[in-house]
Amino acid sequence: MLLKTPPLGWNSWNTFGEEINETVVMQSADTLIETGLAAAGYEYIVIDDCWLLRERGEDGRLVPDPVKFPHGIRYVSDYIHSKGLKFGMYSCAGYHTCAGYPASFDHEWTDAATFAEWGVDYLKYDYCFHPKTIPGHILYKRMAAALANCGRDIVFSACSWGSDMTKLWIKETGANLWRTTGDINDSWQSLKALSLVAGDAVRFGSINCFPDMDMLINGMHGKGNVGLAGCTDEEYRLHFSLWALMGSPLMIGCDIRDMDDFTKATLTNPEVLAINQDPDYNQPFDVSPESDPIPWTDTELHSSGEHPIYVRLLSDGDFAIGMFNLSDQPSNRWNTALQLDRIGLPETTGKTLVLRDVWTGEEVIVKGGIFSAVIAPHACRLFRARVIDKP
Ligand code: GLA
Repeated sequence: MLLKTPPLGWNSWNTFGEEINETVVMQSADTLIETGLAAAGYEYIVIDDCWLLRERGEDGRLVPDPVKFPHGIRYVSDYIHSKGLKFGMYSCAGYHTCAGYPASFDHEWTDAATFAEWGVDYLKYDYCFHPKTIPGHILYKRMAAALANCGRDIVFSACSWGSDMTKLWIKETGANLWRTTGDINDSWQSLKALSLVAGDAVRFGSINCFPDMDMLINGMHGKGNVGLAGCTDEEYRLHFSLWALMGSPLMIGCDIRDMDDFTKATLTNPEVLAINQDPDYNQPFDVSPESDPIPWTDTELHSSGEHPIYVRLLSDGDFAIGMFNLSDQPSNRWNTALQLDRIGLPETTGKTLVLRDVWTGEEVIVKGGIFSAVIAPHACRLFRARVIDKP
């Protein structure tokens, strides 16, 4: 199937982990609608690991845990669909899921058929406990072939954490999304580590094969399965800005039934979501003074500097521009300077940009081909920029 834009939704793992059950999932579907998240575009409700029993059934099929899902999975799926939402599930390319439950290796066709019968629209497919004798690209091809033949459109979300050079082979497998790194947790350390390598992954992303930077931690505030120290509001806003700009799926990880106003306002900002969902997925590129203007030619994992400035050309000719300060000091006019010639708009064109800050609504016209900002530690500016004739 063709996936044109990154999926928006909610996933159970970050907050609930093992504690997943029918009530949580169905209430989260209700909440997606009641809070306006669905109206803003969030449509997938995804059950992650730990939904099943430790053994397959006598018919060889995966069996939902009857305590967690007393009415079975189809019941939950029907409920989610009755709300106009889409339904996602989880399995793994190995013998076991990461939490040690049965997984799909050598059962790909049976499991794809089961997921199709259950009305699944999205499958997250992990990489734990896989046979070391079979390369990752073949493991993902096996499930991709089964899904493509299961009679239902199912978004195939590969989750091999960027390992074994996922970025080099993922597009040939048929996966629609691919996890670029190991797991996020709810702390600035984790957020910073993932942010530093974000630019590496996007070079290998495209429409129908979007880079998945992992599920969101916005609004977790240290609670739940991957809750650690928690982050400040500024840090959560940086997180959402970067994930949106890079074209990552935006899968909410907090307990949306108990979401604070700041989190809701962040997650539903229409201008930020419009950047994420722009119909042209032109790759973001780094134009910070610390970045190398010549694209890398090797395939090593590259880290940006601590002040990346990512730019993305949008379908209507605007630019999305994010200036990030991942360091512990305020940025300055040298390390956070946007030069218009680096994005293809030199002075000789007679053009410049109006930068509209999508968080504050403030507008500023770039003068003299350069715009510098002083950005607080762990904060960012995100703009939608319109090309105008120089005043
Ligand atoms: C891996 C994945 C996580 C989550 C867990 C579940 O760690 O990367 O996103 O799905 O497995 O066990």
